[in-house]
Parts: sequence; C-alpha cells; structure tokens
Amino acid sequence: MEISTIKTQAFSDQRPGTSGLRKKVTIFQAPHYLENFVQSIFDTRTDLKGGTLVLGGDGRHYNRQAIQTIIRMAAANGVARVIVGQGGLLSTPAASCIIRKYRTNGGIILSASHNPGGPDGDFGIKFNTPNGGPAPEGVTEAIYARTREIGEYRTLTSGAIDLDTIGMLSLGNTRVEIIDPVADYAALMEALFDFGRIRQLFDAGLFRMRFDAMHAITGPYAKHILEEMLGAEPGTVINGIPREDFGGGHPDPNLVHAHEVVALTSGRKAVDFAAASDGDGDRNMILGRDFFVTPSDSLAVIAANAHHIKGYAGGISGVARSMPTSQAVDRVAEMLGIDCYETPTGWKFFGNLLDANRITLCGEESFGTGSNHVREKDGLWAVLFWLNLLAVRKQSVKEIVQEHWRRFGRNFYTRYDYEGIDTEAANGLITRLQERLADLPGSSLDSYTVDYADSFAYTDPVDGSVSENQGIRIGFTDGSRIVYRLSGTGTEGATLRVYLEAYEPDREKQGRKTAEVMKPLVGIATGLAEIESRTGRREPTVIT
Ligand code: G1P
Ligand code: ZN
Repeated sequence: MEISTIKTQAFSDQRPGTSGLRKKVTIFQAPHYLENFVQSIFDTRTDLKGGTLVLGGDGRHYNRQAIQTIIRMAAANGVARVIVGQGGLLSTPAASCIIRKYRTNGGIILSASHNPGGPDGDFGIKFNTPNGGPAPEGVTEAIYARTREIGEYRTLTSGAIDLDTIGMLSLGNTRVEIIDPVADYAALMEALFDFGRIRQLFDAGLFRMRFDAMHAITGPYAKHILEEMLGAEPGTVINGIPREDFGGGHPDPNLVHAHEVVALTSGRKAVDFAAASDGDGDRNMILGRDFFVTPSDSLAVIAANAHHIKGYAGGISGVARSMPTSQAVDRVAEMLGIDCYETPTGWKFFGNLLDANRITLCGEESFGTGSNHVREKDGLWAVLFWLNLLAVRKQSVKEIVQEHWRRFGRNFYTRYDYEGIDTEAANGLITRLQERLADLPGSSLDSYTVDYADSFAYTDPVDGSVSENQGIRIGFTDGSRIVYRLSGTGTEGATLRVYLEAYEPDREKQGRKTAEVMKPLVGIATGLAEIESRTGRREPTVIT
C-alpha cells in the first residue's frame, strides 16, 4: 500500500454554506476538487490522525466514488479506524448517532440534503464534530482557510474497497469497519419511544399510515422501524428504495414535492397519518387526514406534549427555534416556564445549546425538528414522536393541533421562495432593505404598524461567538412578522426566502385559510422589498 502525495492547486470557492459545501456533481468530479476539501479537513482536524472517523452519505450520484476516495485519503492521513455505513450509506441523523455513540473524532457526511441528485444534480460534503453535530463556523472557516492555500493531498493506491459486505478490512494501518447503517439508529429510537404502545396502535387494525421516503435514504430505516419493528402493514413505506437520482424527483418533504403522499391523506380511503423525509433523512413533513401540520406548529406541539413521551418524561430544559421559524413554540416555552432561544438559520447553531443542556428540543420552519438525542435534525424521530403521541392521546392529528391552537393561539405561517434569481439583484434587494430599517419602526404599512425592524444578529450564549446579518426581521405590533433572507444552500444564482407569520388568538378565526390570512402581509412584503422590479419575478418559485 503506497502512500502518494499529489500536487494540487487551491480552489477559491470551497467555503461551506448553511450546511457544508454544496455544488453541482460535475464540479465535485473535477480533478482534485473533492480531494482538496477532504485534505483540508484532515489538515485542520489533526486528532483524526490515530483517531476514528465516521463516513457515509445519502446515496446520491457520486456517493460511492467519493466514499472510496475518502477512505483511501483517510488511510493515507493516518486515521486509525473508519466506520462506514454499508453501501456507503448513512442518513444524516444516523451518522450523528454513530459519531456520538462510538465516541469518535467526528464524521464526514456526503449529502446535498433535499437538493435533486443524479449526474446533473447536486452533491455535498460536510464535517461533523465529535458531538455529532455540523461543524460550527469556527471549524468550517478554518477548513475553508485551508482550502485557500492547499498545495498537496495524500492518498494511497488500492483496489476498490468492498462497501457492501458488513465486516472489517484493513487498508494499510487503517481498520475499515462496514456497519449496518440502520441498527444503532433503530436502537436509539427504541430507547426514546414506547414501541409497545405504537405497535398496539397498528395491531388494532384501525390505524393506517404511509411514509414517503422519496426514493432517498430513509427507505431502509423506515421499513425496518415502521414495518418490521412496529408492525405497520407492508407497503406503509412508499418510494422506499434509495436511488442515486431519487427517481428523478426533488427529495424535499413539503406539500409541493411530496404530493404523492399528501394525496393519500384525503378521500374515502384516506390514511390517518402520513409523513415524508428528505434526501438525507433529517427533514420531516407531518400530515393527518386532510390536515397539514406546519413544521413550526409541529415543534410547538412536540414541546407541549413531551411529558407524554418516555424519552422526555423527565422534562425538557429549554427549546430553540431558528429565527424565521414561527413563534408558536415561544408560547409553549412561556407556559412551561423554560427558556426559548432564537438562533440563526442552520442546525449548527443548536449544537452548543444542546451540549450545554440549555435546550432539549429545537426546530426550524424548513421541515426540521429534533432533540438532544443526536446533533442533527431527525426526520424519522419526528415521525415516531407523533406516532407515540397519537398512541397515547388517542386523538387524530387534526384534533391535537386544533386543541393546541385553542390553548396557545394559532401562528399562521407561510414561506415564499424565489429560486435562481440573479445574485447581484438579490444582494441589492437586501442592501436596500437594510438601508430602510432605521426608518421603519412606528410606521404604518397597510393596516399594520411596525414594532421593530432589524438585521438579525446572534450571540451564542455558550461560547460568545457572534453571527451577524442573519436575515431581516420586521415585526408588527400585533405579533405578525415578515422575515427576509438569502439561502445559504443553493447552487445556482441566489434564492430569496420571504417568511410570513400572523398570530391569531381568536378561536373563531383560527380555521381560516392560510393564504387568505396572509394576503395583506404578502402584499406588504413584496412591495417593501420591491421584489418584482428587482428580481423580475411576479410569483415565487415555491410556496410552502
Ligand atoms: C435551508 C433551510 C434551513 C436548513 C438548511 C439545511 O437553508 O432554510 O433551515 O437548516 O436548509 O437543511 P437555506 O437554504 O435557507 O440557507
Ligand atoms: Zn436534509
């Protein structure tokens, strides 16, 4: 096994975004592109030498080749042990679970999450620290700095490594362990939730659900847990075989992209409960019969009901939500007398709060929910939480959520995405909004009065690190909000996200249609940001 040092040249565009480095597959396939980034990880995370690395991905196109490359580089860089999911597969939450469980020095996860895959699709890579969470900014910036100056990388020559047979093999002095990607994760879920009770729900034959794995990574996880361990009928998991191109789809669990499972929740044969997860298994969408639960509401309901669930029966220490997420959970925290943190977008900002036990639960409006059981958001976890709750409360999804609104008020919520717009136009729009912020408070827009307007900055209460320019917030005196920010995960042009929230405490008005309630706010938001004239877009690309 001969270690070789390969000369390379730095790329200038390897700065990780909201969730790792994401680019088109074709960019990652360019000579040295992947290798440079991986070597930069090894160069900055020096404890990987002689340590243990977890490795896996969501199975998208180029996953297998990249896994082979990284294992060789890990061996050439002196990593003592590499734990790899069979077939090179690991869902993001499972990777987080394994990084923590085996007290490793971190992991490399290959994924572009919900972005489309295939030869012309997206690819991504990120490093997770030993706590199992996405590397905080200090770490990603150090890796990025290294990519700017790298001149060579280490690898070794070997034949193809067999990724499909569970067991151990050696590559030079490195032990490569190919593990079952599902087992550790399934055991963790069983420890948190009352599987016996959920099983009873299915056994009675009166309750039916469907889970849409969207041809992505959660297929094998959901099949094993829902159908084999919990006894849900065969066929409960749809689109359950992971494909390199996700069946040509867009593996994002929302009402637009997961319409197949949404359709199963209405009509005469409607199922009682349905859910979907994304490309790498960290997102979730929750549906009842004829009923969609917004991710913001889901987080609030989960927090309000945690005491019903085995793994959280001892109480929750606090909650956190990303800034654009609705304030529904804030009201639950207030009732429970626990802290509620507002963090910038991206799961990495929850890590310190979880590690310091300041929070137990956290979530984002972008279909992400999770807890202190791992350090990533976790799609199947949310589904199991809801299943456990349905089994305990013996009510429908709709009844549970409507009861929640009656108790806490309803936060109507919607998000408008303008994808693939000109980057300069997008930056100009944000800059202009920033210039106007100081004049907004106290002014009237339509029938709303601006309470505050700012560019969101966050000081991490644990390590004191400051993150500025995390989105523009405009709050109104009645509790409504408009938030603008630019996506940090896109790979083409810029994506402008506009988040809208309206609060309704009046029970009589809580049944109104979201689109109708939001109409005036949409008008204000698009007008204020001059969206049409600046981007040329009349309508958003996606409304969720
Ligand atoms: C998006 C979501 C964000 C999430 C991230 C990774 O990031 O908005 O909440 O954490 O994907 O799943 P964005 O593209 O908005 O930067
Ligand atoms: Zn994801």
